[in-house]
Amino acid sequence: MLVPAILRKMRRQPIIISILFLNLLVFSLYFTLFSYEGLSSSIMSPTAKFNNIQAGSNKLNDNHSNYFTSNSNKPSISSLLDKLAFLNENNFDDMSNNLYKKLFSSDLTNSNWRFSDHFVNNKISLDISAIFSYVNKRKSQHIYDPRITMTVYLNHLNEKFNTEDSNEIPFSWADWVDLSALNPFLGNDKSQNCYDFFHNYDIDIDTIDNGKPFSEQYKNTYCIDNEDFSKSEHGNFINKNLLPGFNFHKQLSVKSNFVGQLYNAKSYLLSFAQPPTLIYFLSDNGTYFKVKPYQSKTMMENGMFDSFVRKPAFKGFNPIEEILNLNKYYLLHSQLDFKTQMIDSNSYELSIPESRFIFNPDELFHYLHTKKIENLEPNEASFLEGIKFSQETKSEDVVKHFTEVNVKWYAQFHDHEIRENGAHYDFRFFSGFLSEMPESEETTVHSPIYDPNIAKQSPRVDNKTKRQTIILSHMAHTLFSLTFHDGLFMWPAHGSLLAWYFNAISFPYDEDEDVQMPIEDLAKFCLKYNNSMIVENPRYGMGKYFVDCSSSLTHRGKELGNNNIDARVIDIDSGMYIDITGLSVSSDKLNRENLNKFQGWITDDQLNNYPLEKKDNNEEAGDENQQKEEEEEKKKEATPEEIYNTHKDYKIYNCRNDHYYTLSQLSPARLTLFEGAPTFVVASSKSLIEVLDTEYGKKSHENAEFKDWYYVDVLKMWVKSDDMNAACHEYQKIAGNTEIKFDSVTSCYLTNRTTVLSELIKNSVYDITKQSMLKNENGDRPQTNILGELFRDNQFTSAHQREMKHFYEGYEWAESFNDQSGIPEDWESVAKWMLEDHAPPRLAMLDYLIFTEKEDQGEEIHIL
Ligand SMILES: *[C@@H]1O[C@H](CO)[C@@H](O)[C@H](O)[C@H]1NC(C)=O
Ligand SMILES: *[C@@H]1O[C@H](CO)[C@@H](O)[C@H](O)[C@H]1NC(C)=O
Ligand SMILES: *[C@@H]1O[C@H](CO)[C@@H](O)[C@H](O)[C@H]1NC(C)=O
Ligand SMILES: *[C@@H]1O[C@H](CO)[C@@H](O)[C@H](O)[C@H]1NC(C)=O
Ligand SMILES: *[C@@H]1O[C@H](CO)[C@@H](O)[C@H](O)[C@H]1NC(C)=O
Repeated sequence: MLVPAILRKMRRQPIIISILFLNLLVFSLYFTLFSYEGLSSSIMSPTAKFNNIQAGSNKLNDNHSNYFTSNSNKPSISSLLDKLAFLNENNFDDMSNNLYKKLFSSDLTNSNWRFSDHFVNNKISLDISAIFSYVNKRKSQHIYDPRITMTVYLNHLNEKFNTEDSNEIPFSWADWVDLSALNPFLGNDKSQNCYDFFHNYDIDIDTIDNGKPFSEQYKNTYCIDNEDFSKSEHGNFINKNLLPGFNFHKQLSVKSNFVGQLYNAKSYLLSFAQPPTLIYFLSDNGTYFKVKPYQSKTMMENGMFDSFVRKPAFKGFNPIEEILNLNKYYLLHSQLDFKTQMIDSNSYELSIPESRFIFNPDELFHYLHTKKIENLEPNEASFLEGIKFSQETKSEDVVKHFTEVNVKWYAQFHDHEIRENGAHYDFRFFSGFLSEMPESEETTVHSPIYDPNIAKQSPRVDNKTKRQTIILSHMAHTLFSLTFHDGLFMWPAHGSLLAWYFNAISFPYDEDEDVQMPIEDLAKFCLKYNNSMIVENPRYGMGKYFVDCSSSLTHRGKELGNNNIDARVIDIDSGMYIDITGLSVSSDKLNRENLNKFQGWITDDQLNNYPLEKKDNNEEAGDENQQKEEEEEKKKEATPEEIYNTHKDYKIYNCRNDHYYTLSQLSPARLTLFEGAPTFVVASSKSLIEVLDTEYGKKSHENAEFKDWYYVDVLKMWVKSDDMNAACHEYQKIAGNTEIKFDSVTSCYLTNRTTVLSELIKNSVYDITKQSMLKNENGDRPQTNILGELFRDNQFTSAHQREMKHFYEGYEWAESFNDQSGIPEDWESVAKWMLEDHAPPRLAMLDYLIFTEKEDQGEEIHIL
């Protein structure tokens, strides 16, 4: 049954017929005569490596232009540099125009994978030895390739749709996250029980009663040895060979070193984590498939993988094709999609109803209370439970909901001090510090093996910026697209809003994102997505995000201050997250300072009548205010109800961390893009600037220098200051005056933008090729890959330029030249363009990792 597909392939590639034929024989034998268990290891070629899967995938991408496939005669490096000669022209505008012309020329697009605007490495070919290797390895190790998992699950889902009209599918976290960090503990001689684990990872066990055997102290340690675990109900789902010896039920209650936290997290996901309540597979134009997972063994052991690869139509793993093949009858789409509302409104601007900031869960979700319990969907039942729990919890009893990584500080790893402390990672999905991950990965795609021996062989510390930027970009893109098409208000806030102001893309140094929602939208979001997994549209990448809403949603004030965040969307590959805060009426009283910020936004009467704290008034009152003071004296301390009603009346809303806004500071909200996805920004430019000034100081949005980054207006992107300095140094050499001293990057750049920029870009081109001969004299490579990023950002940053010029008089970062991006000038056309689907402005993680690895193996890479 498998034969036709293979034969078709052979006809195209006669030279390797014999090899394929051999494989074919082995493959048929394997699938017809042996069960997985019966497959003897002698059938596997000892040299077959999982790496073959990656190599195979590259070969298959024959319709994408990338360096693996373009085999025409490539010009030499000197001709590459010739082509850059235009950069030495002195006319600045010409230079910029030429730069953009060059970026969008088909020459460049066709000659280098970095200039692809889509996810390139998205599928895995029919490479039999690689598939054998995958099957075989998964018997004794944890390995993870998201393309295989997603293809197999989606294919099974389609079968359930078509044969049983059901969306229930088996699920195992071991298929969906990279647990390979646990591999060093697999096998009898390497397994560690709980006691060994605590001992070896520097975990304080003072609190643990040493008198008792360790296995009896489960309640304190949250750890259970294999023997006991295998007898538990969870034990039924996990192959004993894949258990590390220790099994964690939750996060350790004491600090450990970070590798200890990593193993703790991976073991928890393997052994105890419940499947998500629902899985949402996102597709095009705001559509999605909704799936109910149930706990199961992995796809290797429950028959899903086997049944998929035995299909006559099997020709590799292609998640994009698979999601497009799913039965469209089950494709869902919200009728409240803002896209439709925007087009209907014709103004690309929507008012946010006041009612969305007033939280009456019993009223809002009344329809759920009228349902019979047995008719509630799983997410509905747990949401009602969550709200009830929140309502019944007293403010002084609310505990912190979210758990971050909790490492001993200061921490050392591989003989250096660790630069991160864990606060930007959710504990459960922690895969190690991004700044400590090796760049290339031997057997896995998504997380490294923390094997000291591997680390010694290639002692490279990855530059975490790139990974971090990719993860946040794809996560934000997914979340904003999702809520926009669901008709739920959400917009970038705090640091994310400031980043939006510059170029509508996150700062490269951001470690998380912040977004806000009106409380009603947030509650509906939690009803739909709490504890669920959202899977990025595979056209763009392989991101998977877990939603976690707090258990105190009905508490709208600061209280003990340990739940400032209402919900979190977490990248399950790394644990990085986006913080969501709800805005609502509350009975948290404004202080004098916060009240004064509302001058011009509420009436003077309202300002004067606001029931401030007594002591606030006294501080203010001078002798001449005696009369006023006496008046205030007469006022009683306002009750929480009175404050609540005042805020409701004044339309003042706050998050749980002292950020207050009036309705007119938030609404109407205009369409915009952030990270390439449609979202909102307040339509009033006065409000926008005030909010930024209040939070970050008056100069924040005018300042090109931040930490060690520099905003290059012409490129519309942030560049490492070191790269700028290097370019300045080159400029001094060109100008023949190495004595020139600049007091800042800005002053150097402004002295001769043309030359500095052209040096900067030349350096960046070196980075793209990664050829060793192109390192500079110190053997360094620039840190910013300008051309590659510019190509992908350009349409987004150009659309942002058009928008800002239209709406913000005196926009500091306005550029006048035509940037060749093809984005129209008028707002209405820009808005229409914004409403279409776009890929995120960053590479997919798989493209980044795999190609990085190839480059580092010293393969020749040519561009132009
Ligand atoms: C590549 O494109 C050609 C023509 O557009 C098509 O016939 C062929 O099937 C494609 N190959 C793959 C592997 O998608
Ligand atoms: C999504 O919308 C675009 C533009 O309206 C359309 O061309 C495309 O076919 C749609 N895709 C799907 C899968 O419906
Ligand atoms: C990576 O970038 C950081 C800044 O984020 C820089 O300080 C560091 O030197 C770079 N590391 C390497 C190994 O290139
Ligand atoms: C979300 O799920 C978590 C974990 O089950 C639960 O503790 C929390 O109460 C839920 N929140 C809401 C708003 O339902
Ligand atoms: C910038 O520097 C280049 C190289 O030294 C020089 O040819 C050019 O005239 C300078 N331009 C300006 C505006 O100073």
